[in-house]
Parts: sequence; C-alpha cells; structure tokens
Amino acid sequence: MKQIQTIAIVGAGAMGRGIAQIAAQAGKQVLLYDLNADSVKAALADVHAVWSRLQEKGRMTAEQVDAAKACLQTASDLQALAPADLVVEAIVERLDVKQGLLQQLEEIVSADCVLASNTSSLSITAIAQACRHPERVAGYHFFNPVPLMKVVEVIDGLRTSPEVGDALMQVSRDMGHTPVRAKDMPGFIVNHAGRGMNIEGLKIAQECVAPFYQIDAIMREQAGFRMGPFELLDLTALDVSHPVMESIYRQFYDEPRFRPSPITAVRHAGKLFGRKNGEGFYKYEDGKKQLPQ
Ligand code: NAI
Repeated sequence: MKQIQTIAIVGAGAMGRGIAQIAAQAGKQVLLYDLNADSVKAALADVHAVWSRLQEKGRMTAEQVDAAKACLQTASDLQALAPADLVVEAIVERLDVKQGLLQQLEEIVSADCVLASNTSSLSITAIAQACRHPERVAGYHFFNPVPLMKVVEVIDGLRTSPEVGDALMQVSRDMGHTPVRAKDMPGFIVNHAGRGMNIEGLKIAQECVAPFYQIDAIMREQAGFRMGPFELLDLTALDVSHPVMESIYRQFYDEPRFRPSPITAVRHAGKLFGRKNGEGFYKYEDGKKQLPQ
C-alpha cells in the first residue's frame, strides 16, 4: 500500500486549514495552496495561533509546536505541489471547478499521487470522470472543525482503486482520525443521515411549533446531540450547507424526505450564513453565540 508522507491541500478555508493542522501535527510534510494568497496567509496565522494556545494549555510542547510549524509550508502556485503523495482539495463546492482542478493536478503530480476531494455532496465518480486516471481519485470527507471532529469518510467512486481507499484509511489513522469507508451515494453517510435532523428541525420551526433556539436546546439537552440543527447549520455555514441540501435532493430525484427548506433558501439569499460572518440563525459577538432576547 502507498505510504503517504507529503500531503498537499488546495483550499485554505475552514476545512483546508483544519486538515493542514492535523497533518502537520502528525509529522506529515504539508503544502498548503489557495487561489487567494490572503486566504493562505490567514490560514497559516490561524493554525499558528491554535498551536500557541495548545502550548499555553500544556497540550503541546514547544518542541512539538516547532516541529509542526516546520512541517507546514505554503505554496504560491499549483506547480509547487509536485512532490505530493496525496492532494486533498477543499475548494468551492462546484463540480466543474473541482474537475478542472484535478485535471490540472494530473499534469503536475506523480503517476501514483492520490487525488482526494473533501466534497460534502458531489459524486466522487463524477468528479473523477474528468481525470485521465479516475482510479486514483477518492472522496475524503472531513468534518468541521477538523481537529475536533475525529472521524472522516473515505469514499470509493465507481472507478476508485481499492488501494487508494486503503491508503486514505491508513493516513487518517496516522493523523489520529477514525476513518469510515462509504460508497459513492449522495450525501455518503453523514450528510444522508443528517438530513433527517436538519429537515425535521426546519419543519418544526416553519410550522411554528417552537422557535429555533428551543428546538436546539431540546435536541442538545434531551436527545443528546452535541449541537441542535440550527447551531450545526450556523457552524457549517449556509453558503456551504444550503447548496449541499439542494444537491442531495436533486441527486435523489426530488425525493420528498430530502426537500430543502425555504427557511434556509431565504437566509442563504440574504447571506445570513452563520458563525463565519457573524450572523446566521443566531448572532455572534466575539465568536460567542447570542441567544435571542
Ligand atoms: P471555504 O469557503 O471556507 O474555503 C474555500 C477556499 O477555497 C477559499 O479560501 C477559496 O479561496 C479557495 N478556492 C476556491 N476555489 C479555488 C480554486 N479553484 N483553487 C484554489 N483555491 C480555491 O470553504 P470550506 O467550508 O472550507 O469548504 C471547502 C470544501 O469542503 C467544500 O467542498 C465543502 O463542501 C467541503 N466541506 C465543508 C464543510 C464545512 O462544514 N464547511 C464540511 C465538510 C466538507
């Protein structure tokens, strides 16, 4: 099985920087690239700040922080990703853009480099179809925030070689994550199962049975979830999760149980995305959720 030591990450947003953090902490050589140079800069500062906090709390030693910093390098163009054993893309959730990126990468990386997509909802088989070697393409679906959500889905597309999935299973364990293997079906496991709680939560709010924050409270306190559906939507951010809901609905040929809600549609249109821009279902001050008065 291919040993993965150098990991390139394309997309330095919420997901890319989290993947970069855990990979560097595990001693992998990391190359972080984004089309937007400011995003790479912000990601590096963000990850360094996390490591400083972990050191202050005694959860990392100064030597471990120095070693992790040395492992995390930034790249200013795609050509610099040539040494990668694995490229994980965490860019915008659009099939044509992801396909275009993988086609470009195939011209740069080695013949046995694995190309993985962190897509939440797009078909791995469809992403891979644009590549000359679709057998090297797999889904690699982390959750937000990556360092805390210690599970990851490894998804085999119809043409993915089993060894590629095996290599991703192994590198996940190297990084302290628990990998779960899934087939290429809309929403894989989590975004398929998770529809139930999100969609019913939105329906309960739409039917005015209870306000959103009370629905969250009961799902947390009584049902035992770490977050309620609206807290989770705010964390994931509606610019990501609303298109995901629409995509999964379409891919299941408009199956009613997956139908997205007009509540998220209107909030998506109004850019009330969530935590990341300060207002979603809740408002956020200094990153802290405010309960409605
Ligand atoms: P984000 O919006 O925080 O970051 C995306 C980054 O990709 C941006 O910095 C942007 O400049 C960059 N980018 C866009 N197009 C690019 C290109 N062609 N080449 C290089 N860089 C490019 O997005 P986020 O939340 O990190 O999501 C990224 C991917 O991960 C999406 O496919 C999303 O569906 C998936 N995902 C998101 C989760 C979440 O909770 N936010 C959870 C699991 C998966």
